[in-house]
Amino acid sequence: MKPLLPALLALAVSTPVLAAKIAMEDQSQIPPAPAKPEGQQWFQPPHERDLPDDAFGRLVQQGRAIFVDTRNQASEYVGNGMNCTNCHLDQGRQANSAPLWGAYTMYPAYRKKNDKVNSYAERIQGCFQFSMNGTAPPADGAVINALTAYSYWMSTGAPVNQSLPGRMYPVIAEPQGGYDLARGKQVYAEQCAICHGDNGQGQKSGDDFVFPPLWGKDSYNWGAGMHRINTAAAFIKTSMPLGKGGSLSDADAWHVAAYMNSHERPQDPRLVDGSVEKTRVRFHANDGVNLYGQKVNGVVLGQGTR
Ligand code: HEC
Ligand code: HEC
Repeated sequence: MKPLLPALLALAVSTPVLAAKIAMEDQSQIPPAPAKPEGQQWFQPPHERDLPDDAFGRLVQQGRAIFVDTRNQASEYVGNGMNCTNCHLDQGRQANSAPLWGAYTMYPAYRKKNDKVNSYAERIQGCFQFSMNGTAPPADGAVINALTAYSYWMSTGAPVNQSLPGRMYPVIAEPQGGYDLARGKQVYAEQCAICHGDNGQGQKSGDDFVFPPLWGKDSYNWGAGMHRINTAAAFIKTSMPLGKGGSLSDADAWHVAAYMNSHERPQDPRLVDGSVEKTRVRFHANDGVNLYGQKVNGVVLGQGTR
């Protein structure tokens, strides 16, 4: 079993089972990103060519290298086949795919996920633990230091504590009548399998993925934000199929997101007493729309992969 953050351990011990339906969306206290003003462009992060050739510039470059090649540059802390940039597109620059310039200036911030005010370092640690299915690098260590410098530099000129248009993923309304796994399967076969593989396994060149996995042992785990169908639908609607973002209907983005997230993936590292049901009640029952601990085709999801 992977080591847990002490804070999450404390949470697991102290949080009573919540019966009331409360929104568990991440960072619910941060206002949603405003729309992009008509005729204006997104926030423009600086160009790499403008980086100074000094200690600061080199640290930023290191952060960029870790962000795009996390598996190799921070392998100790990564437990799957992914890199940060797989979900934060264009090296963390792309509006509406949780760009770093939208993130850095919004911390410290309260997160329901661990019920405390998180520093920026803690926010990144979360993505290592869940999205990268790994372990949290030390907050004062080289990896977090470099990623923080990269994010800080990307935010050059951005206002502090003010949500910028293009931050996070935009919210996509759930279709009337809910999602449809059969339709999602069809969309997947027609629009996604060519790159991500018939079984969501991705495609490799040598040891590295050229097309990242969407489910299975090399993918994000059951605790990651992307396991929520609403979050995945938002990402997919905006950015997939790669190069054709915006081409799916909102409904199809939901259907295919649900299909993707109706497959097994690595276990939620917060697993309570080895029980999927207890973990579902504590961490998933109020966390957006998700299938953890739910029956699909007669099988309860959330068993995890090895
Ligand atoms: C032309 C190839 C291509 C197609 C088609 C495509 N993707 Fe992707 N997808 C990618 C690549 C490449 C990335 C990683 C982007 C990067 O690292 O810059 C990605 C990233 C993702 C991610 C986030 C990373 C991960 O592995 O979890 C998801 C989710 C995703 N795609 C879902 C889909 C879905 C659903 C479809 C079909 C609607 C689709 N993609 C179609 C190439 C493709
Ligand atoms: C599987 C997809 C995925 C991968 C891989 C991933 N993230 Fe994330 N990240 C997300 C999602 C989804 C969110 C949005 C929060 C949520 O809904 O959970 C997010 C949020 C963030 C935020 C906060 C954004 C904001 O505006 O508050 C930061 C910072 C971040 N990620 C950094 C990283 C870093 C650094 C890595 C690599 C170590 C990484 N992420 C890997 C999916 C991913």
